[in-house]
Amino acid sequence: MAPTNVRSLPNVARQFKLAARPVGMPKESDFSLVESPMPRAGEDQVLVKTLYLSVDPYMRGRITGVRTYADPVNIGDTMVGGAVGQVVESHHAGFAAGEFILGNWGWQEYAVVEGQTLHKLNPNLAPISTALGVLGMPGMTAYFGFLEICRPQPGEVVVVSGAAGAVGSLVGQIAKVKGCRVVGIAGTEEKVHWLVNDLGFDAAFNYKSCADYTAKLKEICPLGIDCYFDNVGGAITDCLFPLLNVFGRVSVCGQISMYNLEKPEPGPRLLPFVLVKQLKVEGFIVTRWQGHWGEGITQMAQWLKEGKIHYREDIVEGFGSTVKAFIGMLQGENTGKMLVKV
Ligand SMILES: NC(=O)c1ccc[n+]([C@@H]2O[C@H](COP(=O)([O-])OP(=O)(O)OC[C@H]3O[C@@H](n4cnc5c(N)ncnc54)[C@H](OP(=O)(O)O)[C@@H]3O)[C@@H](O)[C@H]2O)c1
Repeated sequence: MAPTNVRSLPNVARQFKLAARPVGMPKESDFSLVESPMPRAGEDQVLVKTLYLSVDPYMRGRITGVRTYADPVNIGDTMVGGAVGQVVESHHAGFAAGEFILGNWGWQEYAVVEGQTLHKLNPNLAPISTALGVLGMPGMTAYFGFLEICRPQPGEVVVVSGAAGAVGSLVGQIAKVKGCRVVGIAGTEEKVHWLVNDLGFDAAFNYKSCADYTAKLKEICPLGIDCYFDNVGGAITDCLFPLLNVFGRVSVCGQISMYNLEKPEPGPRLLPFVLVKQLKVEGFIVTRWQGHWGEGITQMAQWLKEGKIHYREDIVEGFGSTVKAFIGMLQGENTGKMLVKV
């Protein structure tokens, strides 16, 4: 792709800002599309043109106004998020116009970014969009969050919830590489079909049309469950704990079923199962392994090349559709990684 010439830049650039704190499921009116004068790069800075934006479940937590493991986005702030783009103008020695980069400049068409926060991408190694998916944060979440916490052994039974999403679809395939029997839980028949027929999951079911998760899991996991990779929490996870085998492992990755609740739901008491089954239950934030992401990316790229894992991107076109894509992802419209092509 030819680099954008600075002289042919538009006079204005658009950003999405947080307009209101969402109550329940976010609405389009919780964000505003704002135009600002085209920014120019200062010393050690780079002006980037966004090519792909990531929409991710963690963004729902950032807009609640509560500090979790990261600072919240305040009303009037530009939305945060990972992005892939092309350098338009560089005043940083490490980058030149036309290069492709990964960064965290959020929901903006153009942005001025400190050069030291950017990572250069090689478009000849993999499509640049994969830096936001299989070879980026979601891929590393699957790789380290599953392998480091579950430590799967060949022949073990692994259940993945949120199985057809960016992280879950990769966890199941990594478990297959490790010789496990893999069961996925997802929200449509099409997703279930994709998991079993295209990704090689041994079984999967649609939680939205399943009246009794416990009965279903007992039917497809007659020998119990050794590892559970939890992307969703809530009722699915409540039913799963009693079915875990002795010395089972649970990797608590996400709890998306609760992110849009207006009031917390009461849950069952699960610690007795942790005790009598001698379970290991561990939550994580993927940045824990940031120093090792290079190893994870190399291994995932190798498995991709060998055809051992496959990835899918669900691409929404146009910067103006970013909020729609975000809400759509929270509502399960995506199969694989949800991205916006700007
Ligand atoms: N710990 C970390 O460092 C870390 C890093 C990245 C992601 N995560 C977490 O990992 C999980 C997956 O993230 P992702 O980026 O791969 O997103 P994703 O799975 O690609 O997209 C979200 C999916 O969640 C499912 N979902 C929505 N509401 C649900 C509900 N009430 N019950 C069950 N499933 C529901 C939807 O699929 P269905 O059609 O199946 O409902 C939707 O497609 C999220 O919980 C996220 O917060 C954690």
